[in-house]
Amino acid sequence: MPADQNTEEAIERVVELLRKSRSVLFITGAGVSADSGLPTYRGIGGLYNVETTEDGIPIDEALSGDVIETRPELTWKYLAQIEQACRDAKYNRAHEVIAQMEGHFDRLWTLTQNVDGFHRQAGARNVIDIHGDLHHLRCTDCSFWQAVEDYSSLAMPPHCPHCDAILRPDVVLFGELLPKEKLHVLYRELYEGFDMVFSVGTSSLFPYIAEPVQMAAQRGIPTVEINPDTTRISHLVDVRLPLRAAPALDAIWQRYRETTP
Ligand code: OAD
Repeated sequence: MPADQNTEEAIERVVELLRKSRSVLFITGAGVSADSGLPTYRGIGGLYNVETTEDGIPIDEALSGDVIETRPELTWKYLAQIEQACRDAKYNRAHEVIAQMEGHFDRLWTLTQNVDGFHRQAGARNVIDIHGDLHHLRCTDCSFWQAVEDYSSLAMPPHCPHCDAILRPDVVLFGELLPKEKLHVLYRELYEGFDMVFSVGTSSLFPYIAEPVQMAAQRGIPTVEINPDTTRISHLVDVRLPLRAAPALDAIWQRYRETTP
């Protein structure tokens, strides 16, 4: 629920802007899934807070394209820990609201950095999961591809049933390029343009995450940030809601539906 008068006013402003919009872009990060109990990457309880893993190398090295090639068991160990956290969790009200909004607006897309698959599980279809999905595995050598519900039945590291090479999740590891076909969809949709842009639960460190907000702000397109903390895009947005994603989106959507014919 809105915390105070200022928050209520900010929610009302967001609802007014939404009423004038037919196309909406959501940009999401780990903070959205924090409301499902998943750890974020940075900040309090963040996965990257440990400088060195118990294996003696930094986590961004363990989760890198180079290390999965040379020591796959190491990368898989930390990928499995991330998957384990998702396995015990479920999508939350923030994912649900975004999926419901997709059915209401003419065009709504979600650009997410999350690899948990929660946006799609909540029913969203127009999802650009730019960093991939942990539940999609592919062979590092042949064209084998498989969707898995979780990693519980996988040998670690798993091997391809066709050619015996190492399997890997179809996610972007450190030092790897973003998938071309997803970038293509992103640029196609950005080129078409949006009436409103939301940034929810991300520290916006990556240029392709911050730039759509920067571009919208430059063009006078309304922008909203939902994040308890300030980030490098906070000063640009029209409305800042220093709230958790699930209660904030629930309040916005409830108010919108109460007041929009
Ligand atoms: P970060 O961990 O960098 O940032 C999470 C953001 O969520 C922070 O700004 C928090 O203030 C905010 N936050 C925390 N709890 C929240 C809540 N309940 N509601 C709303 N916001 C909340 O995560 P990302 O920005 O997603 O990439 O990180 C981007 C990428 O960095 C990840 O996709 C990952 C990592 O390297 C890859 O693995 C390729």
